[in-house]
Amino acid sequence: MRETVPRKIILDCDPGHDDAMAIILAAGNPDISLQAITTVAGNQTLPKVTLNAQRVCTVAGITNVPVIAGCAGPLVRPLVVAPDIHGESGLDGPQWPEPTVPVTPGHAVDAIIDLVMAAGEGEMTLVPTGPLTNIAMAVRKEPRLVPRVREVVLMGGAYTRGNVTPAAEFNIYVDPEAADIVFSADWSVTMVGLDLTHQARATSAVVDRIAALDTPVARMVVDLLHFFGSSYQQEQGFEAPPVHDPTAVARVINPALVECADAFVAVETMGKWTAGMTVTDFRGKLGFPLAAHVATRLDFDGFWSLMIDAIAAVGQGAAVS
Ligand code: RIB
Ligand code: CA
Repeated sequence: MRETVPRKIILDCDPGHDDAMAIILAAGNPDISLQAITTVAGNQTLPKVTLNAQRVCTVAGITNVPVIAGCAGPLVRPLVVAPDIHGESGLDGPQWPEPTVPVTPGHAVDAIIDLVMAAGEGEMTLVPTGPLTNIAMAVRKEPRLVPRVREVVLMGGAYTRGNVTPAAEFNIYVDPEAADIVFSADWSVTMVGLDLTHQARATSAVVDRIAALDTPVARMVVDLLHFFGSSYQQEQGFEAPPVHDPTAVARVINPALVECADAFVAVETMGKWTAGMTVTDFRGKLGFPLAAHVATRLDFDGFWSLMIDAIAAVGQGAAVS
């Protein structure tokens, strides 16, 4: 069921090639009101991912959404970055112009708290697509935030196998303690994990459709996907790269595109071999309520239709609410 009133969201991200596409989808789709882009260390260091958010917003003409930097590392563990997938800059591929979109002063954790507390109860949705450090810190600093949030729809985790280790997906692996706080809080969590996102591959036919738009934004996305595709081929053996993060935004736009099943999800923080694993119990074997929504099946054509429409819409002066 499509919403009539645009859904207010905060996109908490670590750009990152697929985060860049999540920014474009969130800014370019009329059913989303992108309230802020907050950045967190993950794919690369905080300065790099924040600069990358500025770069994407500059090329995509996203000029009235605040970009606010957050935590520079995980709650407890040392930061692990992903140059093997995203390059030294975190967004290798395109030739970037000097960014004209500024970083808004302040800290992302405070911005998340302020925006949620200022919005109506149940009005704001959080869409994290990087490590969950900012979200966990916001919960700890202002617990009243939890009941006010409509839902958390996050890209992270997996119920079959990980990508950084056999057990753990990158966003959870980087900061398992933060993920444990987020999954344990008393709010609605939807986990859009690798089991779903690996269905969202940017095939050559998809890349050709994007290239055919022939706009600066489309050319940026094609350059991003060429780099992302080559690193995914080399590092993970994928013929076409899975664009993980925008599928979480697509779930907010139209839940029918991202089928979910209820489960109990526990984050492993102690395991020698399994730290960062999202232990997913669909059958109540552990005796806990099946309170999380876990993404299982993607409507591939429906997703790419949303994504390509958004690429066409931004940068053309499309209203970014
Ligand atoms: O495991 C994939 C996730 O880790 C994506 O969000 C990607 O951007 C990286 O952050
Ligand atoms: Ca990401």
